[in-house]
Amino acid sequence: MLIKSNKILGNIDMIILGIETSCDETAVAVVKDNKILSNSVSSSVDLHKDFGGVIPEIAARYHVEYINYVLDDALRGANKKLKDIDLIAVTTRPGLVGALLVGVSLAKALSLALDIPLIGVDHLIAHLYAASVSGESVKFPFVGLVVSGGHTNLFLVHDVKRYKLLGQTLDDAAGEAFDKVAKILNLGYPGGPAIQKRAAGGKIDKKLFSLDTFNDSLNFSFSGIKTAVLYHLRDKVKAGRLLRGEKSKAKDVSKLAAKLSAEEINDIAASFQDAVTDILVRKAIEAVRREKVRTLVLGGGVTANSELRDKMVDAARDNGIKLHLPAKKMCLDNAAMVAGLGGALYKKGERSDLYITAGSSSVYSNSFKS
Ligand code: KG4
Ligand code: ZN
Repeated sequence: MLIKSNKILGNIDMIILGIETSCDETAVAVVKDNKILSNSVSSSVDLHKDFGGVIPEIAARYHVEYINYVLDDALRGANKKLKDIDLIAVTTRPGLVGALLVGVSLAKALSLALDIPLIGVDHLIAHLYAASVSGESVKFPFVGLVVSGGHTNLFLVHDVKRYKLLGQTLDDAAGEAFDKVAKILNLGYPGGPAIQKRAAGGKIDKKLFSLDTFNDSLNFSFSGIKTAVLYHLRDKVKAGRLLRGEKSKAKDVSKLAAKLSAEEINDIAASFQDAVTDILVRKAIEAVRREKVRTLVLGGGVTANSELRDKMVDAARDNGIKLHLPAKKMCLDNAAMVAGLGGALYKKGERSDLYITAGSSSVYSNSFKS
């Protein structure tokens, strides 16, 4: 069955409800022509902390429990009623399928009950609309870099429907590397903000960690650096023991970081963050140069990282590139970016039907992991 709407939708008065439940954020937003009227997010992050990562069933149950409250909050914040909504945009992929299905089911129910159109969007691409929905005037074509907990992808974006994948991580995503290294350093979950905080008080040693550049390729690899951090930690702990004349003990990874001083942990965090942000900047600028465009757009949780933002601003200025960074809050998962992309797709004639479902992977990314 195709959705039919009795409403005539013009560009001016279109009020879009965005829904996002791909991971641990239950999010609903109301957006009117790229202006955010409300952006409600409730996160289950605290429930996952003890496990050092997101537990899919806990995330899905949290969405079921909280989504109606978040919906009410978003409508109240925008001073709108359900009857005022013209279009529903929902993340259908990539993400945790059980979690995604909660948002997709709500979106279908609302679309059917209100008799308004529905658009399923890709979360990865939605991150690239966080900047424009937060007020930046982004012009096509541009190079888009998505750096999140699950992806590190470089795209040439011709327009809202045409994306060319220029490069991506061949193993871990940049955010995943932050999370795993934070775990090794006993800094908790999520790792990005914790590493950034500790790195601020540390000294960078450029020689400590280097990342595979793959020469000319625009691909990334972040799995090696977490092993390098682990080996560095082991070597430091071993050296300390030798100095104190202690015998070498069994290597329990979770106890290694506790043997180092706060300054030593800060220094490792600073050098790790420096190496990861350097490679992201270098490849993003190279992609813009190669594709002969003038604009670079960033999105995804890691874009909230201050060092990455500062370095990218400097590199863009030095290379004459127009850079669009989402506001820090908009880098993390939210539904306003979903509504932004949904609205842009709608204007290009895109429609979804009530048969849409959820998928774990993005159609805009290749899967290298088994
Ligand atoms: O985009 P996002 O909210 O969710 C996904 O789509 O994955 O990104 C979450 C990721 C996590 O890996 C988190 O550690 C990372 O973004 N992150 C950061 C920072 N804030 C969040 N990484 C580095 N520095 C930050 N300040
Ligand atoms: Zn995300």
